[in-house]
Amino acid sequence: MKIIKDIKEMKEFSGNLKKKSAKVSFVPTMGKLHAGHIKLVEEAKKYGEAVVSIFVNPIQFAPNEDFNNYPRDFASDAGILSDIGASCLFYPSEDIVKKTETFLINPKYSERFEGIFRPGHFQGVLTIVMKLFSIVEPDFSFFGLKDYQQYVLIKKMAEDFFMDVKIIPVETVREKNGLAMSSRNVYFNEADKKAARSFYKVLKDTLNLFESGEKSAEKLTSFVIKELISDGFKIDYAEIADKELNCVKHRVERGDILLAAVKFKGVRLLDNIFFV
Ligand code: PAF
Repeated sequence: MKIIKDIKEMKEFSGNLKKKSAKVSFVPTMGKLHAGHIKLVEEAKKYGEAVVSIFVNPIQFAPNEDFNNYPRDFASDAGILSDIGASCLFYPSEDIVKKTETFLINPKYSERFEGIFRPGHFQGVLTIVMKLFSIVEPDFSFFGLKDYQQYVLIKKMAEDFFMDVKIIPVETVREKNGLAMSSRNVYFNEADKKAARSFYKVLKDTLNLFESGEKSAEKLTSFVIKELISDGFKIDYAEIADKELNCVKHRVERGDILLAAVKFKGVRLLDNIFFV
């Protein structure tokens, strides 16, 4: 596996793959890789040569967030990526965001769901992903569905800018107990991690309620909120929307999605479930 830090070298690497008619299959990450990332890379390999970036992006963290403490383990990450057959690890320095004057925003979504609780977050995400796409020039790029709003926004960005990259969603990978994999799960001790499993359990119970006939979004979200609070979660939001995230739903239909963000023992967790 090739490890590249330099932008020009990364562009050359991708350019050479394309000259050989190989496809560039890109997985952007912030490192501290877990089974969710491994699944993204495994998917990427099905589409072409897997290029994985590791960059803890300062411009997507607010000053009160965990940028400084965000878990980092380059040596272990590089070992994992090499073992699972990634072709290239792109590991740029913070210079790629320093001195940036141009930022990307999607105003419509900056005031919804995550946007309300993490102002500026998606501006940072879209800007770094646009930069990474400009350097790596991928044919395909892979995003986990746990961060559903991020996936939708990146898909829209790629469409809005007529980019030649296909954005591929990848199912959330979960711990055995249902908790969605996240690099931030390392903040939990074992007991808290066990207790955090009821986040997903409540989402599944809500799906069951829908299946047994409850279609009112207000009743379904009240149920989620009540159950989560009684299990010790602090709620940022729990809302039901259509799958394009264009509108919040009143009457829930198949294909809609329940999105939720909570805090548990000081750790912020995101998850979602589709009403299938
Ligand atoms: O999902 C993430 O890990 C990050 O938001 C991403 C897409 C790598 C951008 O920094």
